[in-house]
Amino acid sequence: MTCIAESSSPCKDAGEECGYFGDWGLERMKFLLGLVVGLLILPIAVMIYLRVGHPPVAVADRPFLLEKQIVRAPLQTRIEKEMPASAPIEASGTNLTTGAQVYREECAGCHGLYGRPSAYAAHMYPKAPQLWAPHRNGVVGVSDDPVGETEWKVVNGIRLTGMPAFGKVLNATQIWQVSVLLKNAGQPMPADVTKLLTTPLDYGAEAAAVATPSPAQPTNH
Ligand code: HEC
Repeated sequence: MTCIAESSSPCKDAGEECGYFGDWGLERMKFLLGLVVGLLILPIAVMIYLRVGHPPVAVADRPFLLEKQIVRAPLQTRIEKEMPASAPIEASGTNLTTGAQVYREECAGCHGLYGRPSAYAAHMYPKAPQLWAPHRNGVVGVSDDPVGETEWKVVNGIRLTGMPAFGKVLNATQIWQVSVLLKNAGQPMPADVTKLLTTPLDYGAEAAAVATPSPAQPTNH
């Protein structure tokens, strides 16, 4: 076979079969082809799995292998890096009361009240923890977490969970007040705070408080 390479090319001298790339070039082409195919196989397999493999999408589905660990580790690292070291406010009566009002309005639907777990929290994925219930070793809610960690979670929310980011919903003081309240969840509370945290939520009364729109006017259309 004729070689296009220069007359000094070793493949011409040896009279061996050689193409534009020569033997070495052919090996390299095979390697590159293998690399490209190899790189494509994984994404294609993932796409097929996502389309027809029934990956977990419903709340009650079984989690992926190591799903919890994969999601938790980066979250914890991020929080440890960014959370404030301490609260800028005291656990005073006023702060606890305002914290409890904020909690009733914004959090209790998912995180429950004293002795009144949220009806749907257990049917979320991940579940919304009940922040007034004692868990392992009798600790109530997140009272064993640093207050700055709770504040970070309330400000930023937790991605791909039902936990909203309240950074643009509540002001900084309200967020600290509710975070300090949760930090003290295992402590005795002033009577008005206990009342706010034990009185059942009354969605009916809240709905009634919203002005009922006047009935639509009949039209000719
Ligand atoms: C729509 C439901 C929902 C609302 C409303 C909500 N949360 Fe959450 N929250 C969740 C879910 C779900 C999680 C669990 C996230 C996870 O597993 O990582 C969570 C997690 C948390 C955690 C971390 C709990 C832990 O065990 O580490 C804190 C603290 C928290 N929420 C505080 C609040 C506060 C304070 C409010 C109100 C200002 C609030 N949440 C409102 C759903 C909600």
